Amino acid sequence: MTGTVTTSALASLQRNHLAALQQAYDEMLTRLGLDGVLLYSGHPRRHFADDQEASFAAYGHFMHWTGQVDLVRSWLLIRPGKRPRFKVHAPDDFWHLPASLPDEAWVTTFDIEMSRDDAPPTLPAGRFAVLGDVSTSLAEALGVDCNPAPLVGALDEGRVRKSDYEIACLHSANQQAMAGHRAARRAFLEGGAELDIQLAYLGASRQRETALPYASIVGVNAHGGVLHYQHYDTFPPARRRSLLLDAGHRHRGYCADITRTWAGPGADTAFASLIEGVTAMQQRLIEALAPGVDYVDLHQWMHLALGELLAEQDMVHCTPEAAVAQGITRAFCPHGLGHSLGLQVHDVAGRVDGAGRPLPPPERDPALRLTRKLEAGMVVTMEPGLYVIPMLLAPLKEGTAGRDIDWRLVERLADHGGIRIEDNVVITPTGYDNLTPPE
Ligand code: GLY
Ligand code: MN
Ligand code: MN
Repeated sequence: MTGTVTTSALASLQRNHLAALQQAYDEMLTRLGLDGVLLYSGHPRRHFADDQEASFAAYGHFMHWTGQVDLVRSWLLIRPGKRPRFKVHAPDDFWHLPASLPDEAWVTTFDIEMSRDDAPPTLPAGRFAVLGDVSTSLAEALGVDCNPAPLVGALDEGRVRKSDYEIACLHSANQQAMAGHRAARRAFLEGGAELDIQLAYLGASRQRETALPYASIVGVNAHGGVLHYQHYDTFPPARRRSLLLDAGHRHRGYCADITRTWAGPGADTAFASLIEGVTAMQQRLIEALAPGVDYVDLHQWMHLALGELLAEQDMVHCTPEAAVAQGITRAFCPHGLGHSLGLQVHDVAGRVDGAGRPLPPPERDPALRLTRKLEAGMVVTMEPGLYVIPMLLAPLKEGTAGRDIDWRLVERLADHGGIRIEDNVVITPTGYDNLTPPE
């Protein structure tokens, strides 16, 4: 990956991004017979019978223009051939700091109104749609279509291939996340508990917890085998076998989603060589990335490679093909190879083709989130895994596949949870560019 772009180069990339976005919206709105679309940023949810709110992230199509994750109750009006009109909710408030806008290129290209109220802007005569977390009663009062599927589908498709500006933002998000991963690894090796590791991650990646693109998964020992493990133990375990850390960062709305797995001082020797095996497998899979490659084929290849690794490490005593056919590899890795990445960590339009037709995942792979052919500009995660998940392995014990598994080795590894290695990669016209820096 080329180095970080300067602020002025980023401003120029952002202007190009906005010009292309305006053109794409103009074409789409004209094709759908609309005079414009109103994008609502959204608002946080309040806990039931409480005055406290959940953390918030703005609607993806609103962020596509502004990159603003935190702006609540604000409206963006896009019309063909007109400057975007932006009504920002910024009430006088001595309880909170009112909203303000960043020093970024987009601000100079929009007509901006800082407003005390959160009502949508007055619409001129014509046919409009409103998109976002709005009530149908509001849409009816405005006399506009609410989240019409053809428009949402077309706009989702417009987020599949990233602009150079978006790729630069994803690259920055990766750099910041990796600074966190380095510090988190140190905290683990120095004996920190899951909470200490999370705090080290947040500190080094310079972000508060509510700004994360997703809740960090900090799995020490067996917790690494809980795919979306959600707690942070406050005490370290007596014996530190492993750390699986899946943690990200946002830059101008764009998400990094990186996972690393480390052996601790109390690890079984077999675990460290399994980490090496999964890392090498991930690199081989990344090297296959190019336009025209079918992501479902890559996912199937991951299973064959997992079968090879399990056989090499004597965890199974059958051919890789037999390990796949008997469902052994899927018990060791029940999730997909990866997903599209952008303004949402699991980005939109992963399971439709370019014309919006559904591309459901294979029956055996219900968790696979990306089923498209790759195209230049797509950004995907590559995250093969290998876990000891008792509830998935136990049923194999009963059947014929159970005879091909070395249960003693599985038992030795059970307290290590699992391994996932995850990078973020952009597809280029000739191949790929890995946005995730080395540790
Ligand atoms: N961090 C969630 C995922 O890897 O998809
Ligand atoms: Mn991911
Ligand atoms: Mn992840």
